[in-house]
Amino acid sequence: MPAQQPPSGPSSKAPPDHTPAGSTPINKLPAWQSFVRLAQQQTPNANSLNIIDAAGLTLDISAQRHSAALNDALDQLLAARHFNAQREQLLEGGQVNRTENRAAWHTALRAPAPTNQDIARERARVNNFVRLADSERRWRNIVHIGIGGSDWGVRLAVRAFGYTGLWRQVRFVSNIDGHAIAGGLAGLDPRDTLVVLASKSFTTAETLQNGQQAVQWLKNAGLPDPWKHVVAITARPDRAQEWGLNPEHIFHLWDWVGGRFSLWSAIGLTTALAVNSDVVAGMHSGAAAMDAHFAAAPTHANAPIQMAMAGIINRSILDYGSLNIAPYDFRLTELVPYLQQLDMESLGKSVLHDGQAVNIPTGPAVWGMPGTDAQHTFFQWLHQSSDGAPVDFIVCQHADHGWHKNHQSLLANCLAQREALLQGKSYEQALKECLDEGIPKQQATWLARHRTHPGGRPSSLIVLPRLSPFTLGALLALYEHKVFVQSVLWGINAFDQWGVEYGKRLADNISIQLQQGQAAPAPSGHDASTTHWINTFRGNGQPAN
Ligand code: F6P
Repeated sequence: MPAQQPPSGPSSKAPPDHTPAGSTPINKLPAWQSFVRLAQQQTPNANSLNIIDAAGLTLDISAQRHSAALNDALDQLLAARHFNAQREQLLEGGQVNRTENRAAWHTALRAPAPTNQDIARERARVNNFVRLADSERRWRNIVHIGIGGSDWGVRLAVRAFGYTGLWRQVRFVSNIDGHAIAGGLAGLDPRDTLVVLASKSFTTAETLQNGQQAVQWLKNAGLPDPWKHVVAITARPDRAQEWGLNPEHIFHLWDWVGGRFSLWSAIGLTTALAVNSDVVAGMHSGAAAMDAHFAAAPTHANAPIQMAMAGIINRSILDYGSLNIAPYDFRLTELVPYLQQLDMESLGKSVLHDGQAVNIPTGPAVWGMPGTDAQHTFFQWLHQSSDGAPVDFIVCQHADHGWHKNHQSLLANCLAQREALLQGKSYEQALKECLDEGIPKQQATWLARHRTHPGGRPSSLIVLPRLSPFTLGALLALYEHKVFVQSVLWGINAFDQWGVEYGKRLADNISIQLQQGQAAPAPSGHDASTTHWINTFRGNGQPAN
C-alpha cells in the first residue's frame, strides 16, 4: 500500500492552470525581445558591482550581465509566467509537478517547526535512532546503499563535515558494478555494521541488487538476526517490508519529495550517524533561511532569481552549452555531482508543460571540479577554447584549518581565475609579455597569438563566510530555487524525470538476453552493434564465484 498522503500533507489543489503562460515559449513572450536586446548590449566587466547578501551567503554577479533595465524586463517575464503564484504553489505544497500530479514540497522538510505531523514524526524517529545508536556506541560501520538523490547529498554532507575522520566508518555503494559492493563490504566486521538502504521508490535495480548482496553478506556471517543490521529509507514502506525489513527499521519519505531534493528527509540518516544530528539540523536551518529569502526578496535582490537570470541569458541568449561549477574547497567535491543531478535532471527537458516543443536552448550541461585541481585539468579550455563556459565560483572566506598561507593562496587563485576569464589578455598585452621575456620580435608576434585570451567570459562568485551546516544548507537551497525559477521562465517541469526510464527498460530487456547464454537464438530488435555485443557478452555468463 503506497504511503498515504499525510493529513496535513501538500495541498491537493492543482495549481492555477497557467497553460497559457506555461505553453507560450519564453521567446514568444512580449518582454523577451527587449530582454534579449538588453543582454546582448552588455559585456560583463565587473566594474559595476552587483553583490547580494542572502541567508548568510554573498552572491557576486558583477561578472554577469546585469542592470536595472534587465531586471525590469525580467520582472515582465516573471509576471507573464505568474511567477509569484507558482512560487507560492512550490512553497505551500501545491502540485507543481504536473505530469505526476505531485507537489515538490522539499521546503517543508526543513521548516523549523514542521506543521506536517508526518515530517515531525519521521524527523523524531531518525533522531531517536541516532541518539540510541550513539548512546550504545553501536554501528562502527555504515554501508550506505543508494544512488542519485539517495546518495549524492549524503556523500556531500559526510565529506564536508567528516573529512578529518569519523568515529564511524561510512562506505557508499551506488553503482551496480560488483566492484562497488565488494569494496563497500571489504574488511568490515558484520557484527558492528549497519546497512542503510536508501531508495525513495524501492524499485531501483542497483540499490536492490546491492542490498541483496549486503544482506547475504550479513547472513553468511552467521549473525543471530541479520535483519537487525538493516534499515531502509523509502516512500514505499510496503515494498521494503515485503523485501524483508522490520517495520520499525523503515524510515519514511513521501512521493511529494523529489529524489534529487530528498537530502532534507530521512535520507539524511547516514549523515546524522556519520557526523551528527546537529549537522543535519544546521543544514535544515540554512536551507530554511534561504527559503525565506527566496520567498520575500525583490527581484533585484533575490539571489536565486538573479542566478536564474544569469543562467537564462548565458544559455538561451548567449548559447553557452554548459555551466562549470568551481568550488574552491576540496570538502565540496561532491557538490559537483550533486548539482549535476539537481540541475540536469530538473532542466534537461525540451517540452513545455502542455507538451509543445520549447524551441529554445534550456538546461545546460553542468560539470566541474574543485579548484585548484580544476586549474590543472580543464581551465585551459575555459580560458582559450572557442566556446568556454560560465563558471560558478564558490569559496569560503575563512578556513577551518590553521594553514593561513594555504588558504590565502586558495582565495588568490579563485579571484585570479575569475579575473582572467573576464578580463582576458589582449594580443598587445601578450606581445609585450613576449618581448619583455626577450623573445625575438618575429617569434614574439607569432607566439603572442597563442598567448592571447579572449576574455569576456562570465562568472558568478558565491562566498560563504565559512563552511558550516547552515551555509551548506543555504547554498543547496539557493541552487534548488535557481533551478525552479529557470524552469518557470522556460515553461518546463523541473520535478519529473521521464528521460531516465527509457534506458532502464532497455537494460532490463538486454539483461534477460545476456542471461540466455550463447545457445539462445540471436537477440532481436537491436542494431547490428548492440546485437554483436550481446552475442559476445553472452559468453561471460560464468556464475559468480
Ligand atoms: O535517476 C533517476 C532516479 O529516479 C533519481 O531521480 C533518483 O534520485 C534515483 O533514480 C534513485 O531513485 P530511488 O531513490 O527511488 O532509488
